[in-house]
Formats: sequence, structure tokens, C-alpha cells
Amino acid sequence: MQSEFWLQCWQQQRIGFHQQDIHPLLPVVFSQLNWQPSGAIFAPLSGKSLDLWWLSQHGKVLGAELAELACQQFYQEQTQSFVVTTQGQHQRFSHPAVDIWQGDYFDLKPEQLGDIGLIYDRAALIALPLPMRIDYVNQLKRLCPGPVSLLLLSLEYPHQQMSGPPFSVTECEVRQLFDFAASVELLAIRNLTGRAFAQRQFNVSYLIEKAYWICW
Ligand SMILES: C[S@@+](CC[C@H](N)C(=O)[O-])C[C@H]1O[C@@H](n2cnc3c(N)ncnc32)[C@H](O)[C@@H]1O
Repeated sequence: MQSEFWLQCWQQQRIGFHQQDIHPLLPVVFSQLNWQPSGAIFAPLSGKSLDLWWLSQHGKVLGAELAELACQQFYQEQTQSFVVTTQGQHQRFSHPAVDIWQGDYFDLKPEQLGDIGLIYDRAALIALPLPMRIDYVNQLKRLCPGPVSLLLLSLEYPHQQMSGPPFSVTECEVRQLFDFAASVELLAIRNLTGRAFAQRQFNVSYLIEKAYWICW
């Protein structure tokens, strides 16, 4: 997906991927995991997700988002004040709990993030077509060399029944993309067939959300 596509989505507020609430798996998964906070929490392609505010109880959160409008709305909708500074090709939106690097994720440098202990991916990998998914994971490895854990929420549906985004990313593909990881564990499965994905309804014969815990 080209940048222009996403910028237009935000300008026209075609943001059916945005959830009005915290993702229901977040508290469940976190209560099961024996994860000890270390380093910051990185949320690539973060949109204006409320999940970032929830995650901030576990550590400083760093988002990465292309659309300036999304960043502004993220803070303004929670009546939170923020400071914006320009740093190279990015703008940094700063707040005590959540900072967002606004600009292209693929241009981020590891030193902009520092030490990351947890990555949270909801609707980031699945927002991208296959060639970009490979680049996305390579960039994730560069930005977060490890040790790090990734909570990945992915989506599966019959790909011939709908063109993304969101794209269907099978468990087999997830395991291939992260074949360098020390472990890839399937944590939870949510059957969304006939139900909404955030604010969108899809005409597909099955729709499955899977949560993975991936460590490297
Ligand atoms: C499907 S949305 C998901 C947003 C968020 N993770 C959520 O759960 O609501 C994908 C987001 O990625 C952003 N995005 C797309 N390409 C990007 C890039 N190259 N760099 C940074 N953000 C990007 C889009 O603007 C959009 O907000």
C-alpha cells in the first residue's frame, strides 16, 4: 500500500480499521503471559489506536504512524497535550506515556527507538501486501534486534473472496516471515465470522483473528 492511500484514508476519515475500544484480547493475553516489562513498547503503524494508552500501563509506548492527522487525533481525542518536534525525516509527538514517530516506518532508525522490550502489532502486518510484509519484518528486525517479544494480531480469510487491506496472513506465512525467531507461539484464536472487524463488515465465508507471541 502506498503512502498516498493511507493519507487519503485519514483525510477522508475512511478509518474503518479503527477500534472504538481496547482490543478485547489485550487484557486476556497480558494476564496469561509471564512478561516482565523491560525496555519500551513499540507499536508500528499505530494509527490512533486506544490500545497504546492501555499498553502504557506496562511501560513507555512508542508509536510509528505515517499520518499527521492520526497523531493529532490520537492525543486530542483523549484531551492529552503533546509537544511536536522535527527530527530528521520524522516529527516526534511527545507525551509522558506515549510518543509517536510521525513519518514513514521504513525510514526509522534503531537509535530513534532505543531499547524495545515489546512490539505490539495490531493491523500493521495485515495492512500491507506480501512484498511489503517481508520488508516490514526486515525493518522490524533492524529496529528491534532483540531480545524482544512481539504480540502479533493477525487475520485469516479466503483471500480470493476479498482484496485487502486488511490482507489475509496465514499461520504458515507468519511462521515463514518470522523463521529467524527463537519461538512463535499461537496464543489465541477469535472467530469473527459474520462479525465486524473493528468498524468494518466483510462478506467472506470465514474470518479468524489469531494472536501470536513471537520472541527473538
Ligand atoms: C490498518 S491501520 C492500523 C492502525 C492501528 N494499528 C490500529 O489498530 O488501529 C494501518 C496504519 O498504518 C499507517 N501506515 C501505513 N503505512 C505506513 C508507513 N509506511 N509508515 C507509518 N505508518 C504507516 C496508516 O496510516 C494506518 O494508520
